[in-house]
Amino acid sequence: MRARLVAGNWKMHGSRAANRALLDAIVAGVKGVECAVCVPFPYLAQAAERLQGTQIAWGAQNLSEHAAGAHTGEVSAAMLADFGCRYVLVGHSERRQIYGETDAQAAAKFAGAQGAGLKPIFCVGETLEERDAGRTEEVVARQLDAVLSRTKFADAVLAYEPVWAIGTGRTATPEQAQAVHAFLRKRVGAATRVLYGGSVKAENAAAIFAMPDVDGGLIGGASLVARDFIAICGMAQRKG
Ligand code: PGA
Repeated sequence: MRARLVAGNWKMHGSRAANRALLDAIVAGVKGVECAVCVPFPYLAQAAERLQGTQIAWGAQNLSEHAAGAHTGEVSAAMLADFGCRYVLVGHSERRQIYGETDAQAAAKFAGAQGAGLKPIFCVGETLEERDAGRTEEVVARQLDAVLSRTKFADAVLAYEPVWAIGTGRTATPEQAQAVHAFLRKRVGAATRVLYGGSVKAENAAAIFAMPDVDGGLIGGASLVARDFIAICGMAQRKG
């Protein structure tokens, strides 16, 4: 059976003081499920120091598609590995939409992360316009196939995040999530974990996690509130 994973995506939030309190609470409160936090680059050292030797993994939210060199402002996969990251988000819709990241760049980042021993959490998802036009499967397949045509998915994690559900308070219904997860699963196989992301909250997490092809969540806003994140992790524990 696939082990569930709950990953927090802090996005561009945090301070040393706030992080300390949040990490302390997560370490104390999360039990019985694999859990990770993806923090802003400057806080990787803080996360590594606090989480070393605990059951909580840490990771980053982006990386360069280049291995090293004259790329001012970029951060390489090897640097993330050097800070003990287990995971790195790749192809998040905010990278694609706000920063113009292409499918090819996302695939290059994915390969670079794997090459450095990191597990990419590869994000796919359609916009509302694409969903309304009946193009959801076409879009997520295109995003995923950019990776699969280049490299094996291996033990990477896939995350389905409908763009219209991110930070909007509008979640996919459990049935909508399951339908896309089942479609993605046909491409990545039975062993790969497929997380759902997009306005997952303590109030809706249990119903989404109950779907057979949902293996946990990628949590944005609610991952910044210790009580909520811990509650969501609790709902991801396998019962029975
Ligand atoms: P959200 O973000 O939970 O705030 O909708 C999810 C994400 O962007 O990963």
